[in-house]
Amino acid sequence: MMELREFISTLEKCGYLRKINNTVNWKFEIGEIARQNHTQPLLFENIADYPGCRLFTGGFSRIDYLGINLRLKMPVNRMSILAHIRHGLKNPMEPLYVQDCPDCLYKDADEVNLYRLPVPWWNPLDGGRYIGTWHLNITKDPFTGKRNAGVYRMQILSKNQATVSVSEKSHLAMHMENAERQGKDLEMAVAIGVDEVLVLTAASSVPFGYDEYSFAGALRGEGVKLRQCKVVDLEVPFEAEYVLEGKIKCGIRVKDGPYFDYAGKPGINPAALLFEVSSISSRADAIFRGMAAGRAGAEDHQLFYILSALNLLDFHGSALRQRIQNFFLRHRMYSLFQLSGRLGAMVKSIKRELGEK
Ligand SMILES: Cc1cc2nc3c(=O)[nH]c(=O)nc-3n(C[C@H](O)[C@H](O)[C@H](O)COP(=O)(O)O)c2cc1C
Repeated sequence: MMELREFISTLEKCGYLRKINNTVNWKFEIGEIARQNHTQPLLFENIADYPGCRLFTGGFSRIDYLGINLRLKMPVNRMSILAHIRHGLKNPMEPLYVQDCPDCLYKDADEVNLYRLPVPWWNPLDGGRYIGTWHLNITKDPFTGKRNAGVYRMQILSKNQATVSVSEKSHLAMHMENAERQGKDLEMAVAIGVDEVLVLTAASSVPFGYDEYSFAGALRGEGVKLRQCKVVDLEVPFEAEYVLEGKIKCGIRVKDGPYFDYAGKPGINPAALLFEVSSISSRADAIFRGMAAGRAGAEDHQLFYILSALNLLDFHGSALRQRIQNFFLRHRMYSLFQLSGRLGAMVKSIKRELGEK
């Protein structure tokens, strides 16, 4: 594996990391600096109101950094990274189950407070603070017990509640549908600050039931180390900096947004899921990981480029929109990729308006 902190120190040794030690504000300032420096890994070491907390962003902002992360022989090129991932996809490697991480600190239900994490308000156009921007959402299918890891944005609503903005066709939405058929809440764990390869595999569109942890193990050449959660029956990466555990509430939908997204526009999901957190664990000196969306060519777009080149990208939109978005991504025309994302949203809202009339 390459834990997040090992990756950060490797980037530093290679001279790619920029440390920011002057005090920055979590409200708008971190997001603004991250968007202005969207091709560079940044470590914020002094966050106003959060003494001792650090935040990392930009680890995926250049494809070379993925090569470093995968420990590929330098200099790497895009073709060798893509070949490595293609090989991994066909050779999944089972995860390993290990004991609890030695420096984990737990906060139980009455101590849970999401506002104690250094979560930025990434953009003045956002409706609030987004805790989930570059992370894993882990759930199990209530019928089969099979696991899913995905990346679905999450906005803090209160000290123990957050949204989960899932598209209807996502695997988490399918797990939720199965839980609701039984009239039950759905257990979920959220791991923030994990091996970057895990985020790549979670964002991949792989068949329902295919284990993203095994995919990540294949890319690493060793099984991903997992630990058991404390209050839910789920497994999370052993080295995660922060883990939130709790339940998605049955039958409840809430508004998520506005959120300034990959397409460079603020979007709203009027029917997001509601996550209630009952336990938080963090490593000693935990490093928060997040991502400032909305800038053409930033790290989310680099990830989408990789996935698109591997046919592993699915925005769950129309086939035509998907083709257009893939075309722009594969040619690394990121501004046009954003524009196609905005057009898609426009068509959707026109359809909604017409449907309502
Ligand atoms: C940074 C980032 C943010 C994402 N946000 C969302 C989101 O809010 N909702 C969503 O449905 N998919 C989102 N995705 C895409 C999903 O992660 C992707 O569709 C993935 O395949 C979902 O996993 P699944 O196929 O297991 O459902 C995001 C991807 C990335 C990289």
